[in-house]
Amino acid sequence: MCGIVGFVGKRACADILVDALKKLEYRGYDSAGIAVFENDIIKTVKAKGKIGEGLSVKLKDEPELHAVCGIGHTRWATHGEPSDVNSHPIGNGRISIVHNGIIENYRDIKNFLIGKGYVFESETDTETVAKLLDYYYSGDPVEAIEKAVSIIEGAYALGIIFRNHKNRIYAVRKDSPLIVGKGNGESFIASDVTAILEYTREYYCLERGEIAMLDQEGIHFTDLHGEAIEKELLTAEWDVESAQKGGYEHFMLKEIHEQPDAIRNTISPRVKNGLPDFSECGLTADKISSYKHIFIVGCGSAMHAGMVGKYLIEALARTPVIVDIASEFRYRDPLVAEGDLAVIVSQSGETADTLEALKLSKAKGADTLAVVNVVGSSIAREADMVIYTNAGPEISVCSTKAYAVQTAFMYLLAFEIAYVRGTINEIRCRELVKGLLDVPGKIGECLEDMSVYQFVASKIFSADSLLYIGRGLDNALSMEGSLKLKEISYIHSEAYAAGELKHGTISLIEDGTPVIAVMTQTALKEKMISNVRTVKSRGAKVIMICRSSENVDTDCADYKVGLPDAEDIFLPLIATVAMQLIAYYTAVQRGCDVDKPRNLAKSVTVE
Ligand code: G6P
Repeated sequence: MCGIVGFVGKRACADILVDALKKLEYRGYDSAGIAVFENDIIKTVKAKGKIGEGLSVKLKDEPELHAVCGIGHTRWATHGEPSDVNSHPIGNGRISIVHNGIIENYRDIKNFLIGKGYVFESETDTETVAKLLDYYYSGDPVEAIEKAVSIIEGAYALGIIFRNHKNRIYAVRKDSPLIVGKGNGESFIASDVTAILEYTREYYCLERGEIAMLDQEGIHFTDLHGEAIEKELLTAEWDVESAQKGGYEHFMLKEIHEQPDAIRNTISPRVKNGLPDFSECGLTADKISSYKHIFIVGCGSAMHAGMVGKYLIEALARTPVIVDIASEFRYRDPLVAEGDLAVIVSQSGETADTLEALKLSKAKGADTLAVVNVVGSSIAREADMVIYTNAGPEISVCSTKAYAVQTAFMYLLAFEIAYVRGTINEIRCRELVKGLLDVPGKIGECLEDMSVYQFVASKIFSADSLLYIGRGLDNALSMEGSLKLKEISYIHSEAYAAGELKHGTISLIEDGTPVIAVMTQTALKEKMISNVRTVKSRGAKVIMICRSSENVDTDCADYKVGLPDAEDIFLPLIATVAMQLIAYYTAVQRGCDVDKPRNLAKSVTVE
């Protein structure tokens, strides 16, 4: 993970670097630092902790910096604990680098360099790259970079400055993302375009085997041998406003409120004349009818969206679906093959395990469909077909709107597969599409009054542990609800299929244990009620999420979170919002750092 930035222009850059880094803190926030050309030296300031608590405080104590060129980094520790010395930029006065990724053969390189007399200070894999560049550097930066990248293995995006090449930044990448921004008389590098949206919307995507050189004259791209290359200039459609909090206390709350629009933006472009239409991405009816198996692969919330997809596709299209966690899928020699469809789900489009799952599926001959939010990301570029979820930038580490749009897309995909395969007729398909288009309005209703979620939060915020239970689609949704809660409030929670509880997990219930029960599926209602009564009679404090119109006896549930009325199939998507808001207010009441939960990062570009 980690976020990297760089700036070269004609104005002082320290504040610009810090500002851009703050936009990348979702990628990691264990420590942060900058290195700039100040007078004739490379001046480095770095500190453990979040930017506001470490780097910014340290910079205030420094004499004012006038540098017009520098690089910056915000870290999610992989090699070596969060500390000042393990922070980036890392270098030795001659060379300084920032790195996102993991150098897999760093031990070998380190031993080689120790043999050459180098002494290491940090525990990072990055320091081996800084020293390797130093070892190969004899005046020509491109030559040093070419030699170093021919040795290093793993994933990297690197921003590099050489003291002898003042006000110049070099950048190179493999598998970790990096964009190069083109401003007015100034240039940038960044892990993600949101970091520089305030300054420019024009950018290039740096590819493997390319080197970018940025100076006050502009941006130059070469291959690893120094041959000039031309690249296409892209324009980011996201605006600054959408990457900022817009009056909400946290990005998470803002993004929860953006869900109705986000779902509309995902679904509407793929509906033509009231029916699903995926022709834009090349997923034709012929292809859909030909697939032997459907795999859905992702990590975290993306995988949970896939679980909902499985329930929907199997129920509507009567087609078996295999859902897998990307880190498992890639190492179990999966049975994916030619004639299959692999749906690869990822908000960032950069998650390392998910990207590898995609490459593996492709290599085994399957058609690959990426469901991705970030335009031009690695997964989007690698896949045969792409659906962009159009949710706008998601900054909060805890995913909300990205999950909602991935899930909404799963609905539309299920309708299309079922329609093409003839398990639903046109009338039913139109009815379902209409129902899906009505979901944003119903989610809007759930967002009108926060008091019910705040109330539930006040009842569970002091718990040590709680359970989420549901059946069918509600079971899939519960997995996401539980993940949200544990991720940001640090309360242990588990999602369990309600009917399976009695086979062991029910022993966790004691007097006062909160249980969040989701009950939206009419056909499973009676079963669900008896599961709830079973936990209630063992002391559980039950919070029931169900239709507002549902009569819930007090001997069944202690509190009810009501949902607007809709056809059963859509209620789990609507209930997502309730789950998110319960987690959000619980974390707020516990005083947690909602947007930046401990130990996590948003974009996980390491295994
Ligand atoms: C991280 C995030 C999760 C996210 C997962 C997959 O763990 O914290 O919220 O669901 O990565 O990310 P992706 O970008 O591939 O959807």
